[in-house]
Amino acid sequence: MAMAASRLLFLFCPIFINLLVLSIAQSDPLYHICSETGNFTNSSDYKSNLNNLLSSFSSNTKIDYGFYNDSYGQNNGKVNAISLCRGDKKPETCRSCITNSSRVLTQLCPNQKEAYIWYDDCMLRYSNRSIAGIMESGPYFWMYNVNNVTDEKEFYEKLNVLLDNLTNLAALGDSRRKFATGNETTENSQEKMYALVQCTPDLTEQQCSGCLNQAIKLIPRCCYKKQGGRVISPSCHFRYEKDPFYDLVATTPPPSPAPLSVLPPPPQATADAVPPRASTAAKIGTAVIITEYVLLTNMLKHRP
Ligand SMILES: *[C@@H]1O[C@H](CO)[C@@H](O)[C@H](O)[C@H]1NC(C)=O
Ligand SMILES: *[C@@H]1O[C@H](CO)[C@@H](O)[C@H](O)[C@H]1NC(C)=O
Ligand SMILES: *[C@@H]1O[C@H](CO)[C@@H](O)[C@H](O)[C@H]1NC(C)=O
Ligand SMILES: *[C@@H]1O[C@H](CO)[C@@H](O)[C@H](O)[C@H]1NC(C)=O
Ligand SMILES: *[C@@H]1O[C@H](CO)[C@@H](O)[C@H](O)[C@H]1NC(C)=O
Ligand SMILES: *[C@@H]1O[C@H](CO)[C@@H](O)[C@H](O)[C@H]1NC(C)=O
Ligand SMILES: *[C@@H]1O[C@H](CO)[C@@H](O)[C@H](O)[C@H]1NC(C)=O
Ligand SMILES: *[C@@H]1O[C@H](CO)[C@@H](O)[C@H](O)[C@H]1NC(C)=O
Repeated sequence: MAMAASRLLFLFCPIFINLLVLSIAQSDPLYHICSETGNFTNSSDYKSNLNNLLSSFSSNTKIDYGFYNDSYGQNNGKVNAISLCRGDKKPETCRSCITNSSRVLTQLCPNQKEAYIWYDDCMLRYSNRSIAGIMESGPYFWMYNVNNVTDEKEFYEKLNVLLDNLTNLAALGDSRRKFATGNETTENSQEKMYALVQCTPDLTEQQCSGCLNQAIKLIPRCCYKKQGGRVISPSCHFRYEKDPFYDLVATTPPPSPAPLSVLPPPPQATADAVPPRASTAAKIGTAVIITEYVLLTNMLKHRP
């Protein structure tokens, strides 16, 4: 109950809807939040504990399944952090993403005790309160591809069935991975959809499906008629596109122990300089997907 109360407090921030058109390379953050729940000073234990915790995530080569959850420090200096890579990401990509998020988030939020950052490949959040095992479906944001589908009614029905099935599969995952991908095609217009859902694996089956169900319920508001869309929250996210955007090979559970070779970072996609509407290019296998995205953030109370 105390936890529920603190969540509510955090979510009762002023109504704030922000529209941004993305102009990012794949390795740029999608979005970040510096929470207003409290600050630390540079000389505090909190700061050194945070740095220790984040560098332990980045340097951890034993975890090869992309989920990091730990705490560091005591009393007022105690920091809790969670980091999660997208389920199809290779361990070296994952580690690179977490290293980047740690560096970037501590720059963007230099003295906030609680902060969040989301990338295509991973997310990172930390707080002075306990966050492990707690379902947080807000604050959330969404993104959609500006292109429309032709048969929106059938597309939406098929998408819902697909996402519901994937939610069930992901929720049944274990404490290392709650992740599922799948695809469908509409009968009339033969439009394809590829979808991915994921929860942080510290959640129970019920928490995971609860989080994803809330996110999926936002589709009529975020992504109706759209060829692609995502809703992203601290505990879960989904994404769908008309082209495959996930790595099918890596989607199968990685061999354990995974090879820990450090590969050079992938070439960075170039972002347009001053785009009214820019493209994000992602190279998956041989297919190059170009999508235009609109990012809408919605910090409302999270219940759809
Ligand atoms: C987190 O920090 C804030 C501000 O310093 C404080 O009010 C709150 O009680 C702290 N929460 C916990 C769980 O320590
Ligand atoms: C925390 O720091 C930010 C600037 O970094 C400032 O705007 C905010 O007022 C501070 N909050 C508190 C509670 O001191
Ligand atoms: C705290 O440290 C950051 C860099 O780590 C620096 O940018 C900032 O100015 C420092 N703040 C104060 C109040 O010294
Ligand atoms: C998360 O990390 C905390 C602190 O190390 C630990 O107590 C807790 O058991 C972990 N929870 C999960 C679900 O892994
Ligand atoms: C991390 O940042 C470097 C330099 O900005 C970039 O080249 C690399 O692609 C990033 N890694 C990930 C996984 O985004
Ligand atoms: C998609 O449909 C909406 C109206 O439903 C329209 O305003 C918009 O311009 C269309 N987008 C594209 C890229 O055709
Ligand atoms: C979804 O699940 C239902 C019931 O388990 C099954 O009949 C259906 O084929 C599945 N659909 C997809 C798209 O996976
Ligand atoms: C599409 O889904 C089918 C099963 O429903 C699967 O066999 C196939 O590999 C999937 N293709 C892609 C590209 O995900």
